[in-house]
Amino acid sequence: HARTAQSGEDEGPTVVAHRGASAYAPENTLAAVDKAAELGIRWVENDVQRTRDGELVVLHDDSLRRTTDVEEVFPDRSPWKVKDFTAAEIARLDAGSWFGSEYAGARVPTLKQYVERVEHNHQKLLLELKNPQLYPGIEQQTLKVLANEGWLDRRHVAGRLVVQSFSADSIRTVHEIKPAVKTGFLGTPPVSDLPEYAGFTDQINPSHGSLSVSYVSSVHAFTGPHGRPMEVFAWTVDDAATARRIAGYDVDGIITNKPDVVREAVGEE
Ligand code: G3P
Ligand code: CA
Repeated sequence: HARTAQSGEDEGPTVVAHRGASAYAPENTLAAVDKAAELGIRWVENDVQRTRDGELVVLHDDSLRRTTDVEEVFPDRSPWKVKDFTAAEIARLDAGSWFGSEYAGARVPTLKQYVERVEHNHQKLLLELKNPQLYPGIEQQTLKVLANEGWLDRRHVAGRLVVQSFSADSIRTVHEIKPAVKTGFLGTPPVSDLPEYAGFTDQINPSHGSLSVSYVSSVHAFTGPHGRPMEVFAWTVDDAATARRIAGYDVDGIITNKPDVVREAVGEE
């Protein structure tokens, strides 16, 4: 079984609700955070981007089209990129109806609203800087929102927050600005590059399809910037058989749209 950053004891991997409990509620909404909480899931993952007028919002795609009614509300604004809409415009959109009528009226949360809900629910946050190349300075800005919400105090940075990205530059920047904040790199760097990554990232978080026992043990062999073995959180695993196989690789976490299914398969954090 996997180690965890907190205890170092043998136990199941940490279960992370991907975009919230997104198999059961519309992804990246407060409803998906609450659904994870209802299921007793402590960690939620989200995706952070920036509006035209500089507000940080939680959405996966760089376009609003798939997960909101933006095409109906603003028919002339193709291709409906987040960065081309103001926060006030985005606040008008319905981000729930596409998923199910019972979620009609769910909104695209601002990062501030999102963090406040995670705090309210006593949950923990795996925050992804999505497409950071589109949003210069988003690292500093995200840290500022987190600081304003009280999320950069010792208690939060020690065990309730990880900032991850597919961009190594972006998480290196986060590490340089606020070394106390834990970071994760989304991808599978060659083992020969792991010593460099260990300088600025606590986690190597690969697609589960690219994992092997030996890769996980290679990652664990390096000490991350906070003096602990680098961890591996694998995504996105939604079935019990795959979850058991990946847990058998000794991963530290599994990121899943169906956190109840994965927890049942691999045991609790
Ligand atoms: O947390 C890992 C996972 O979210 C990365 O892929 O496309 O779902 O953001 P994506
Ligand atoms: Ca993500």
